[in-house]
Amino acid sequence: MLIPQDEIAKQFNFMQAVARLNEGKEKYATVKTYGCQQNEADSERLAGMLVKMGYILTENEQASDLILVNTCAVREHAELKALSITGQYKHLKEKNRDLLIGMCGCMVSQEHRKEDVKNKYPYVDFVFGTSMLYKFPEILYTKIRSGKRQFCLDDSEGNIAEGLPVARESRFKAWVSIMYGCNNFCTYCIVPYVRGRERSREPDAILEEVRLLVKDGVKEITLLGQNVNSYGKDLPSPVSFAELLDRICALEGDFTVRFMTSHPKDATKELIDVMAENQKIAKAFHLPLQSGSDRILSLMNRHYTAEHYLGLVDYMRKKMPDIALTSDIIVGFPGETEEDFQKTLEVLGKAEYDNIYSFIYSRRVGTPAASMPDQIPPEVSRERFARLIDRQMEISNRKNKDYTGTLLRVLVEGRSKTDETKLTGRSEKNRLVHFEGDDALIGTYADVLITKTETFALFGELKKN
Ligand code: 5AD
Ligand code: SF4
Repeated sequence: MLIPQDEIAKQFNFMQAVARLNEGKEKYATVKTYGCQQNEADSERLAGMLVKMGYILTENEQASDLILVNTCAVREHAELKALSITGQYKHLKEKNRDLLIGMCGCMVSQEHRKEDVKNKYPYVDFVFGTSMLYKFPEILYTKIRSGKRQFCLDDSEGNIAEGLPVARESRFKAWVSIMYGCNNFCTYCIVPYVRGRERSREPDAILEEVRLLVKDGVKEITLLGQNVNSYGKDLPSPVSFAELLDRICALEGDFTVRFMTSHPKDATKELIDVMAENQKIAKAFHLPLQSGSDRILSLMNRHYTAEHYLGLVDYMRKKMPDIALTSDIIVGFPGETEEDFQKTLEVLGKAEYDNIYSFIYSRRVGTPAASMPDQIPPEVSRERFARLIDRQMEISNRKNKDYTGTLLRVLVEGRSKTDETKLTGRSEKNRLVHFEGDDALIGTYADVLITKTETFALFGELKKN
């Protein structure tokens, strides 16, 4: 459901009301973000609302008057990290009784976690679920005026809120959510339960957002959705993701488009063709495999086979021989045998990924896989995980070596975190590239001649024009 504009206007009134309460005071706010790009995009909206409410954004929690923790629920590790940092804020609250602490996002959208926070974290002032994000100003205002803790979850299937303010972290890179939620119910995954059903934004709203971003100097746009390949199917006049990409690429300006995530069951040849034909689309494809065993894929409710997956990869490579391919892989899914795992290694070898994001299966409350038999002992999962990474490192290393002596166009992101004398950028294929250069290059494209490679980074020299 699209949130009516008068409801959004009401939230703008609450923003003003909070801004009035903050008037003349120097108030600071921190947003801590865990999890995926969608959460980062959400945080930029929360930060946008905070700015409208008179807060100055800071990364320094010690100096903050308000801390908002935007949580993730995809794996237990992410949940524990968010709970642990929130636990540490107790001491800040003891020092500053006026400090406001809030939690939002996927973890606290689960009833049992919301109850945990209510009962075990009494210093948390307000909690709201992913579908209540647009109501943040009202929730905050109500907390401040009433002094009462606020816990706002609803069991709706989700909504779309247009027109919220955004405070973007980068001047030249931006997230654009094109759809929200997921209908796939992969048996290990909590996302469909905490982010509701699939719903697409109207193409015109997306195009207008991209147009304004490009006008604002943004060079790289990443389109976000849990399953971008099913974009538009739910719209009153359906539009395919391939069509949307085509329309975005037709906008004027020098910018690059990326997208994630694609589900192999829905990735179409049409999409691959559009990608191959459009200069503006980065030749990088993230296509999560999850497992190379058909038996496990079926238990995961993924609706494709390893053969279908490799067929897509073949088609992609035929159309775009230099495409960079990345994947998500889970090891230790319930019932995974050594033979199943070997099949994953086999597909890994054939797909020749540039990089993978690999995870040890994490049992999520309420998902079908949580109650499947044959949960894998942690030491077995850890051992498989190590072997998977080893194998991928060999491939990534080899692929990186091939870059030696080539010229890469990179979007310069800033100073390297590990070596201040160098700048860091990302190539079209998402390679991290370090090289010496002037700060003036930040936010622009630069050509770099690659002279040295490592598993996770390339090094080079700026080509002078
Ligand atoms: N355990 C481990 N990894 C998971 N993912 C999703 N749910 C789980 C889980 N329960 C991984 C999938 C997905 C990525 C975002 O996180 O690989 O693609
Ligand atoms: Fe989770 Fe599967 Fe949906 Fe991705 S497609 S968010 S893994 S349920």
